[in-house]
Amino acid sequence: MEQIQSENNFDFGEDVESWQAATFLYNAAAKEVLTKLEILNDEFVHIHNYNPIEHIKHRIKTPDSIVKKLKRYGKEVTIQNMVNYVNDIAGIRLVCSFTSDIYKLAEMIGRQNDLTVVSIKDYIRSPKESGYKSYHMIVSVPIFMSDRVVDTKVEIQIRTIAMDFWASLEHKIYYKFEGNAPESISKGLRHCAKMVSDLDAQMLALNEEIRKYQ
Ligand code: GTP
Ligand code: MG
Repeated sequence: MEQIQSENNFDFGEDVESWQAATFLYNAAAKEVLTKLEILNDEFVHIHNYNPIEHIKHRIKTPDSIVKKLKRYGKEVTIQNMVNYVNDIAGIRLVCSFTSDIYKLAEMIGRQNDLTVVSIKDYIRSPKESGYKSYHMIVSVPIFMSDRVVDTKVEIQIRTIAMDFWASLEHKIYYKFEGNAPESISKGLRHCAKMVSDLDAQMLALNEEIRKYQ
């Protein structure tokens, strides 16, 4: 697991006000990025006459999960470490129809001048050992407060409905084993991941064929 430390341009203390400020920033950042994504989707509909996003999910990481992650990283549990090392406190998941939409959306996000792409992990070209596929971007968005501007990170995961189906069920199954699932189960999940990839490829091919008739 990779730890990207991108320094935030704001020093956090360890008091209640700092916690409230951080919570405010991540909520604001999620809102900003959600709005941008909705506008991108609308523009896509306007230009291509078709809606690439099936649905959008978002969540703010619970304090519990933040603490767990910092401990896993071997970091002291502080607000400053959370801001520096936990990149998915604000998380947005874009679920789209076809694999090709993923790259179109990623490119559109990358072209936004008021977003900075901090890092990209393409688990579609290089799936994880588990079989997991998705396109991950960490972006940073400036949040304008009354007296300062703070760059705040948001994790965007982009995947197809089929990839999302697999990842949701795999998460449920794997969670029960806390990462130590028997080999037969891991193998079964990798097999399902393969079927999901084949399904995506066939759906994409069908869609391209259908478009010839339009
Ligand atoms: P984390 O510390 O877990 O966030 O790992 P990381 O920093 O290496 O980030 P990575 O981009 O690998 O994974 C981030 C997120 O992707 C996770 O929080 C999950 O939402 C999702 N994810 C990654 N791997 C898997 C997987 O094997 N199965 C499922 N279901 N989801 C995964
Ligand atoms: Mg994560």
